[in-house]
Amino acid sequence: MTTPFRWGILGTGGIAHKFATGLSVLSDAQLVAVGSRTQASADKFADEFKAPNRHASYEALASDPEVEAIYIATPHPFHKDNTLLCLNAGKAVLVEKPFAINAAEAQQMISLSRQKKVFLMEAMWSRFLPAIVRARELIASGAIGEVRMLNADFGFRTNYNPNSRLFDLALGGGALLDVGIYPISLAFALFGTPKTINAQAHFSETGADDQNAIVFSYDQGQLALLSSASRTNTAHEAIIYGTDGSIRIPDWWHGQKLIVSTNGKPTETLDVPHLGNGYPHEAIEVAACVRAGKIESNTMPLDESLTIMQTMDTIRSQWGLKYPTE
Ligand SMILES: NC(=O)c1ccc[n+]([C@@H]2O[C@H](COP(=O)([O-])OP(=O)(O)OC[C@H]3O[C@@H](n4cnc5c(N)ncnc54)[C@H](OP(=O)(O)O)[C@@H]3O)[C@@H](O)[C@H]2O)c1
Repeated sequence: MTTPFRWGILGTGGIAHKFATGLSVLSDAQLVAVGSRTQASADKFADEFKAPNRHASYEALASDPEVEAIYIATPHPFHKDNTLLCLNAGKAVLVEKPFAINAAEAQQMISLSRQKKVFLMEAMWSRFLPAIVRARELIASGAIGEVRMLNADFGFRTNYNPNSRLFDLALGGGALLDVGIYPISLAFALFGTPKTINAQAHFSETGADDQNAIVFSYDQGQLALLSSASRTNTAHEAIIYGTDGSIRIPDWWHGQKLIVSTNGKPTETLDVPHLGNGYPHEAIEVAACVRAGKIESNTMPLDESLTIMQTMDTIRSQWGLKYPTE
């Protein structure tokens, strides 16, 4: 019987609530501390999730000796500084997606993790879902032959609010960095780094992209057709096409079902449920890696997070989209 892995959460917004809810189903994980910019918000969050330590600053959380790993749940432009703070305090870090605003920031974070030999991982939680793990296993076993094409989207319609983090460039606004990163990350998991990148977008009045479409091509002629949006509902479907069949994943970024069609055989539906709200799986990965003395995950490696940021930098340069800090 090991002692529960001790988590701290930095920031008390929407996703922090979901991650804390996810942790609560794990018997070998404990939320021991929360850090907020205000004591009132730290207290409210800590009361809700029964966290004993509540800090009125991120610095105080980072130096809490009871915390083993910190989950960073702030808007994208703060990921870099929040991560550097926690790594410098010797805490393992799980940082929300996107890893950073751009590749230069990502490189700084990765360099510090390697220099300090402290664990760091991007919270690309979908990668750890049993459905995605199973789909990758099926592909590796040759179930659909050679994989040739991916179609994946993640678009939702939200109200336009120039002050929200989805539209305000000072808060990292734009569909690409918020949800476009999911299909991009799935394409990386299947095909690696693209050879060519072509992207188009429409922009809201703030200059943030509110819908986009991306085509990646690869050395062997494979193609990934990806889209994301913050003002348009889309199918939320991933379809992976191989030479001998396909795998369709409905609601793929939180999917629990694989619909497998292979040439000449009846379509098979596989149920692949996730734990709790799906977020426990990335937390399990962090605890397993840290306990094994690793400083990065094989499933979401740091070099891949860096290349994904470089790819999104390229896409934004095709659009002329820059953030205020750039
Ligand atoms: N994995 C997922 O499924 C998922 C889903 C949604 C979002 N995300 C990611 O999680 C991050 C946070 O998103 P969210 O939707 O949770 O955001 P949110 O609800 O706006 O919360 C962000 C929190 O960050 C802290 N913060 C620090 N500086 C801030 C500032 N200048 N303005 C606003 N908040 C600030 C605040 O916590 P305190 O007041 O306590 O300091 C705030 O509650 C984003 O990077 C996003 O991409 C991931």
